[in-house]
Formats: sequence, structure tokens, C-alpha cells
Amino acid sequence: MHLGRTTLSKFLIQQLRDTDGGNDLAALLVDVAAAVKAISAMTAKGALSGFLGALESSNGQGETQKKLDVLANEIMLRSCDWGGLVAGMASEELDEPYELPTDHARGQYLLIFDPLDGSSNTDVNVSVGTIFSVLRHAGAQAPVGADYLKPGRVQVAAGYAIYGPATMLVLTVGKGTHGFTLDREIGNFILTHPNLTIPEDTSEFAINTSNARFWEAPVHRYVTECQAGRTGDRRRDFNMRWIASMVAEVHRILMRGGVFMYPKDTKDPGKPGRLRLLYEANPIGWLIEQAGGRASTGRQRILDVAPTALHQRVPVILGSRHEVERIERYHAEYDAGTDRPFESPLFNERSLFRPEARV
Ligand code: AHG
Ligand code: MN
Ligand code: MN
Repeated sequence: MHLGRTTLSKFLIQQLRDTDGGNDLAALLVDVAAAVKAISAMTAKGALSGFLGALESSNGQGETQKKLDVLANEIMLRSCDWGGLVAGMASEELDEPYELPTDHARGQYLLIFDPLDGSSNTDVNVSVGTIFSVLRHAGAQAPVGADYLKPGRVQVAAGYAIYGPATMLVLTVGKGTHGFTLDREIGNFILTHPNLTIPEDTSEFAINTSNARFWEAPVHRYVTECQAGRTGDRRRDFNMRWIASMVAEVHRILMRGGVFMYPKDTKDPGKPGRLRLLYEANPIGWLIEQAGGRASTGRQRILDVAPTALHQRVPVILGSRHEVERIERYHAEYDAGTDRPFESPLFNERSLFRPEARV
């Protein structure tokens, strides 16, 4: 036994002791952790669970649902709707927000989640996760759809679970980003990674390059420079990673730095990005900021984006601060017409007119 270890409950009591509504928020996060343990056990069984594979159904966004998507969604709803802590919930897997059964007491928080992120990876036994965001719900009325449409900067808690070789829970209540590891023998999350800090510089980037033909010029510029490595403007080699589970990419970035991009692209003109603002970009963006990193659309801080729809998508560029700032600068230069790398090579960073390019 390690009696000195900090469990999730103890940590939350300490962090939220002096916060208005803090006891309820701590209790809600413990309910989320209970759901995460159940999802962890279910995903860890793999094919033995009989739950691998897709369903006939699709979610409100027209995406095929995996059996595990639907089960993880049910687990989150059932773990969190009974305790008088939430006023309502919204999920990637539900077209409209979930309304509490009438006999359930209503709490002061809204819980928004992606029950299983990276679910294309479940059948191939690669890490997946759960992402969640908590907002405060003011007023005694039951929430309506518009109550969920708040910018990420007003979140009161955010986090994700990663179901990898170890199951971890990483969360913030606005006082840093902290990581807990599930001790399966005793069933507790133990604080193992307090005050995570993302290095400001990195030589690792993550992007789905099969979408390259749909990217905007500033993203092309950045990735092309990374690929040129030692022989290009950056004068050092970069590594690329792509797991197709944002939680796994973000976890790597929180552990050792890096940049993750799912930028704006022209693949589907109706969608200004792949990832969803309210239950993917906002909670992850806040975790990254609380760890000293930066989270941007390329043109705006993610947490400042004003949502207009529950399942709204948004471009996402996040991770090590200096790299994200560089990519934002490339967007700004492109928008200002001062950098058109593919149209006017004489006036960009690779230009012969720049002294450092001539060495
Ligand atoms: P979800 O499984 O919840 O739909 O989300 C998957 C997301 C994200 O985790 C990942 O970064 C991205 O989609 C993967 O996209 P590609 O399929 O383009 O690789
Ligand atoms: Mn997702
Ligand atoms: Mn999902």
C-alpha cells in the first residue's frame, strides 16, 4: 500500500475546496471517472467483449457508429445523470442534448462529451479515449440547446481519459493540467503527473498528410518546411506522427511536446474542419493552455470561438507554443498577402532575398 498517494477524490477536494459549487463539481468529476473506469474495462476486453465492429446506425452527423461508441455514450449518461449534479448533457453521439428524466434532481452543470474518441481504432487495438467539458448552467430552468453554446474560455472543468497500455485521466479545473493513472488493483485514479508542462519548442508534428491537397497555403508552408528538415529553412529535422486518435496525439504532446493539426481544409466545403468545437477542441484546447501550450484555429484562439451549433466543427492547431505561434503567423502573412509561398516564391521565407536563406 502507498498511503501517501493522492487519489483523484482527494485531489479534487483540495483543488475545489474554495470554489463556489466546488463540492458538486468534484462529485461530478468523480462520476465521470466512474464512467471512464467502466469504459476502460469494456475497451480492454477487446474481441472478448463481443462489442467490436460497427452498427447499422449513424449519429446525427452521418458518421457510422461503432458498438463501442453507443455503449460508451450510455455509460457516460447513466453515470452522470442521477446525482443531482448536472442540468443536462450533450454528446457527439446524440443529435440533441440529453434531457434529465423528470424524477431526477437537476444540478448546476452541463456535461458535454465525446464518449469514444478515435473509435476507428477500436477494432485494431490502438489507443482511444473519452473527452469531456463542463460548463456552469445558470438559472433554475432546464437547459435549452443555446445554453450549451458557450465559448471554451468559460469552461469550469475539462479533461480526457486515454485507454492505452495504462488508462489515464488528464484534467483541469483551471489550476494547471494534471494526470492520473488508474491503479486497476484498487480501482483508484492516482495523481502521477501533476502540473504537466508542454515544452515551448518541438521537432515533432502530427497531421493527416493524405489531406494535403485540401489544405490552405499556410499549412502547406509549415509542413513543407518541416519535411525539408535540416536542408530547409528550419535547419533541423522533424518527426511526424499520426495515430488517428486525437486523445493519443494530445497525450503525447502533453508528455513531450509536439504540434497536432487538423486544419481547415476544402475536403467538404460545408465543414470548416474535422474536429468538433464543444466536445473535442474546447476541452483539449483548455488542457493544452493550462499546460503552457497554445490552441488555435490558425486565425483565432480556440477558446474564444463563439459556438453557433452543438456539433460545429473547427480547425485545430495545438501544442508547443512557439510552433503554434509560427503557424498562426503563417496564416496572418497569408491573409495579409505578404506570403504566398506557392504563388510568389520570391517573397517568402525561402526567398533568395532573405540573408539566412543564402548561407
Ligand atoms: P471520433 O472517433 O470521435 O469521430 O474522432 C476521431 C477524430 C480524432 O480523434 C482524430 O484526430 C481524427 O478524427 C482522425 O481523423 P482521420 O480519420 O482523418 O485520420
Ligand atoms: Mn472524437
Ligand atoms: Mn467519438
